[in-house]
Amino acid sequence: MAATRPSEGAALLAEARAAFRREFGSEPALAVSAPGRVNLIGEHTDYNAGLVLPMALELWTVLVGMPRSDGHISLLTTSEHADEPKRVEFSVPTAEKPLEPGLPRWANYMKGVIQHYPAGPLPGFNAVVTSSVPLGGGLSSSASLEVATYTFLQQLCPDSGAAISRAMVCQQAEHSFAGVPCGIMDQLISLFGQKDHALLIDCRSLEIHPVPLSDPGIAVLITNSNVKHSLGSSQYPIRRQQCESAAKALGKKSLRDVDMKDLEIGKELLTNLEYLRARHVVSEIQRTSEAAAALSSSNYLVFGRLMVESHNSLRDDFEVSCPELDQLVMLALSVPGVYGSRMTGGGFGGCTVTLLEADVATRVMQHIQEQYKGTATFYLSKAADGAKVQPL
Ligand code: GLA
Repeated sequence: MAATRPSEGAALLAEARAAFRREFGSEPALAVSAPGRVNLIGEHTDYNAGLVLPMALELWTVLVGMPRSDGHISLLTTSEHADEPKRVEFSVPTAEKPLEPGLPRWANYMKGVIQHYPAGPLPGFNAVVTSSVPLGGGLSSSASLEVATYTFLQQLCPDSGAAISRAMVCQQAEHSFAGVPCGIMDQLISLFGQKDHALLIDCRSLEIHPVPLSDPGIAVLITNSNVKHSLGSSQYPIRRQQCESAAKALGKKSLRDVDMKDLEIGKELLTNLEYLRARHVVSEIQRTSEAAAALSSSNYLVFGRLMVESHNSLRDDFEVSCPELDQLVMLALSVPGVYGSRMTGGGFGGCTVTLLEADVATRVMQHIQEQYKGTATFYLSKAADGAKVQPL
């Protein structure tokens, strides 16, 4: 059994070009790509100014397009979005007539980036978006669409200022146009991912440290549970709020400034739920720091143990796992040669990430396929580069 091969970037680009020709009757002049991501460890820590350790995937959102002179923007997606039109047209925003979120929902991520883009005036344009990042699967299909859109706009009208602020514009787009109060991890890794490296990102200082991840004997297997519990979208802002109120009750700016000793001393200042949420975040930041050190010294046994501790903490203290994710982790861990496995991303469905010896990957996929109560899909991906302009 083989994992779904991540679509080759070239094939994706060819698909987008063909769709552009069909739809707009000419060759596109510009093309960009931005990857999805998997987070190896450091979950629900980014909005607590903590540490995260994601890698960019060989799964991409590709945007091809061409400027137009009448101030209109016409977008087409080749992906299936249930019940939503695949094409949308609107005018370049002005101070008097800013863009607003609406239908189709898939276009809101793009509209948000266009609205918040820091340079101008932007010309109108036609564009086609194609993606191999599974939609809503917890591998940052949204961030890759935001970052692809930003990178595309840069070709039409160069921006200035710090590279890091690009991630913030994309995050702002997600907050205000998709209504998701996400952290900054997904946008940063989609922009700055490095081939053969995971990135240790400090979400307080926004410093990025690449950690090599190219040992051919080791593989990263992503397993999509193919479930998405509707609870997820309502619980994410609640978790964020619980973390913020825990930090406030402890007299700190964020949970990054809290250690286990502070937490135990201040326990009676917190509600039981705040205490549990904070215990996850504080311990997860510590685990992420240890995991980055373990990966740097190829200590996969320690890395794997930390992954499992992370999963247990997300399941028991942060309460963002679900039976399907727990089962996938358990099944992976029962195969010899697996170092560690955990849920990845926001939770309540989506994917698990497993670190394993490369030559047991087939056995693990087979075992999961036989035993998992749902239908799993798999991705075996190396760590990839971040967003790029693609030559045409
Ligand atoms: C989602 C958010 C991220 C991060 C993760 C949990 O993917 O977009 O900012 O908070 O959940 O680690």
